[in-house]
This record gives sequence, C-alpha cells and structure tokens, in this order.
Amino acid sequence: MAGSNISSIVFTCFLFICLKAGHARERREAAEAFYHHAVKISSLLPEDSCRPSSRGQKLGASLEVVHRYGPCSRASLDKDSIPTHSEILQRDQARVDSIHSRVTLNGNKVLEKDVTIPAKSGSTIGSGNYIVTLGFGTPTKDLSLIFDTGSDFTWIQCQPCVRSCYQQAEPIFDPRQSSTYTNISCTSATCASLVSATSVTPGCSSSTCVYGIQYGDSSFSVGFFATEKLTLANDVFSNYLFGCGENNQGLFGGSAGLLGLGKGGLSAVSQTASKYGRYFSYCLPSTRSNIGHLTFGNDGTSPAEITQILTSSQGPSFYFVNIQAISVGGQQLSISPTVFSTAGTVVDSGTVITRLPPAAYTALRSAFRQRMSQYPTAAPLAILDTCYDLSGYSTVSVPKISISFAGGAVINLDLSGILYVQSISRVCLAFAGNSDASDLGILGNVQQRTFDVIYDVAGGSLDFGLEVVAN
Ligand SMILES: *[C@@H]1O[C@H](CO)[C@@H](O)[C@H](O)[C@H]1NC(C)=O
Repeated sequence: MAGSNISSIVFTCFLFICLKAGHARERREAAEAFYHHAVKISSLLPEDSCRPSSRGQKLGASLEVVHRYGPCSRASLDKDSIPTHSEILQRDQARVDSIHSRVTLNGNKVLEKDVTIPAKSGSTIGSGNYIVTLGFGTPTKDLSLIFDTGSDFTWIQCQPCVRSCYQQAEPIFDPRQSSTYTNISCTSATCASLVSATSVTPGCSSSTCVYGIQYGDSSFSVGFFATEKLTLANDVFSNYLFGCGENNQGLFGGSAGLLGLGKGGLSAVSQTASKYGRYFSYCLPSTRSNIGHLTFGNDGTSPAEITQILTSSQGPSFYFVNIQAISVGGQQLSISPTVFSTAGTVVDSGTVITRLPPAAYTALRSAFRQRMSQYPTAAPLAILDTCYDLSGYSTVSVPKISISFAGGAVINLDLSGILYVQSISRVCLAFAGNSDASDLGILGNVQQRTFDVIYDVAGGSLDFGLEVVAN
C-alpha cells in the first residue's frame, strides 16, 4: 500500500516535472486527447445492417427505439420514400418554426399561445425520427409510432380512412375489429379536456367526440377521440385515451401515428402515471443502424455516470432546462448567461438539430471553425452552415463540446452530437442558430444521442446518464 502510494507520488512528481520542464509536444498531445475527439473517418460512414443493442436488456416496461429510416425500423417504406439529409433538415426547420410560433415570450414567462380553429400552428410537427412499437386493441395489433416529447396527444391512423391516410408499413388499425375500443361522447368532460392537448376545440359527429390536431407544416390528423387497451411491453392500460384518425396527412410516412410524451394531462406519461409515477427514460441510438430504448418507470438500473439537470416548469407540455454556458475544446465561450435565459431552452426528441440563441451560436461557430481551420470547408447543408470536406483524411481531430446547466451540471457531447455527416465530403457542425434572440432554444435529438435521458417529471429533474456503448 505505502509502496504504491509513494510510487504514485513519485510518478505524479515526475509527471509534474516533465510538464514543468516544458515538453510542449507531450503537453499538447495530452490536451489534444482531453479536449478533442480523435476520429477515424471510416467510423463516420453509415452501416446498412441493424446492430442489436450493445447494452443489457432493460428491466420493466422497456421498448426498443429505432431510427425511422434505418435498417432496424419496422416502419420503413421503400428506399425512394426515405428523405435526403437536406429534406430532413428542412423539415426540422418547419418543426422549430412551429415550436416557436406555439410559445410566446411574455416578459420572462413563457406562455402557450391561444390557438383557435383553424389553427395556424396548433402543435409541433410530427416529423420526429424515432420509432417505438406498442400494442393497440383486442386482439392486440403492434403499431410503430413516432415518439415525441414535444407534444401530448397520441393518435394512430384508423380505418375507414374517410378522406385520406398516408402510407404506413403495418396494416392500418380497424377499431371495428377490436373488442376493447370505445368512443368518447361529445358531452363528456374528457372530450372538453382535449383542447389542452391539441389546441383545437373538439367537434361532434353522431354524438361522438371528434379531435383535430394540426402540425406546423400543414400536417394533421382528424378522427374520433376514443379509449382502447394499450399494451406497453408487458403492461396493459385498459382505457388509454387516444385519437383514432380517419383523415391523416403529413410527414409521418411509414409510422402508424404519434406517441405524445409531453408533460400535459393527456400524454402517455400522464396516462400511465399510476403505474410509472411520471418517470421515463430513453436512449436514442447513435446511428441509424443501432437500437436504443424507451423505458417507463424507474427500473432501478442507472447509468454508470449521471448528470442531474433541473427542469423549470414553464409551459404545459414542453420540458424546460436552463443552459448557462458552452465550452468548445475545453474553453468556455464568452456568452452572457442572459443570452440563454432570455428565451429558455426545451429538450425535444423530435427536433433533430439543437437551436441556440443567435449570439450563442455565433460564438460556438467561430470557436469551432478556429479549431477546425486545418480542414477544407464544404458547402452548407440546409440549416447547417459550418461544413468540412474530410475525404482526404483517415483521421481527424474534432474539438469536444460541452454544455453547462444551472446548478452546475455539465454534459460532454458524444461525437455524434457534434458532427452531422451527410457524406465524408460534407461533415457539418450539428448546431444551428435561431434567427431571433427571443426564440426558444431547443436541445435536439442529435445532441441527446447515446445519453440515457431520464425524465423524473414528478421530481422536476432530467438526468443525462452516460450509456456504456461497446463498439
Ligand atoms: C364510433 O363513432 C362513430 C361515429 O358516430 C361510429 O361510426 C362508430 O361506429 C363508433 N364506433 C363504435 C365502436 O362505437
């Protein structure tokens, strides 16, 4: 014991003297490893086979999360209907515009806008990119839904499609074939409660409650508000409130509908509260060919390393956090904290790219460009304006980026949260700036990848745990 202590002291001293003596190269290399990701270019290339989860099977009610357009997806359509990266990023801007139009700044308080029919932007666009599979009805039909922490209402496409249904991979649910489906009457208080989740006053048809939800890009779903048996992993919820959509249009392609995981009363989180206590977590896979998880309830397993971020309670369905600072390559950017606090930040599973206030993005971009100046630049990719052509390299060094939150929590982003790779000749900084300083900041799904993101809604906290990913 004493011997090893002495040798470690000697070693530390030796290290100290070495550094002190000014072996600049070694010091640079140590700093390089600490503040930069050394990236093998080949590791940036996508795979087209589905790799099973490298982590152990989660206990409790755990669902697999897959990328909608990846090889693991049950919801993927033919290759031609897979959007290009620049289409995905343009849609991402439509979602962001819709979130911004939904939330207004009133002094320092964020309020949900009152939306009346026809809703200009009733809710966020449903183009999130991650899919989970749940069971609906009796007998149970497995349906793959987009999951969305930015909205509350759950709906699926239903037969008969009176006006139109978009193409989905699984058969469209038919409530007439299910013994547990029940319509909700127009006169019930449950029908009246719809407006909080959809921002649209419900309608009435043959005394049955009719919901309508409209998304920012003119996507929508209209149909009957109903209850049905929902099977979530091995758990059953007998009267789950959802929309059975007979007229659906928009960018939900392939999926059977949308699972709302917001904070509001009708969300899946609230409707399963008696069993799971408003506690859920997910890990978004780092690539399209990996599998992540969405787990309801506290199953007692927690990630090796955990960072607790407190949520603030503004807004009914969004999860708010307070960003305080950003560091690039180990150096904190000089950004006044009021830049972040002016509009606040929400964590959203459906927005792809993190949106920062303009002053914060400008500072991040210039620090990143400075540290990447040895690499040739490439043309912008939709909303991404800082891109590089790395085709001439076998390895590159990318500065690490970390985000600090109120209360002292710091998350160090995975490489997949720093770079958005269209191809090796166009690799972009995966951040964008809002156009207005008063627009809400959004922590998008690219930046959440590989973290176990744990929502303790009742406890008012959000945890970012480090997943152990074996590559
Ligand atoms: C639900 O209501 C609609 C409209 O009234 C009706 O067409 C449908 O048959 C009802 N479904 C059930 C199972 O009652």
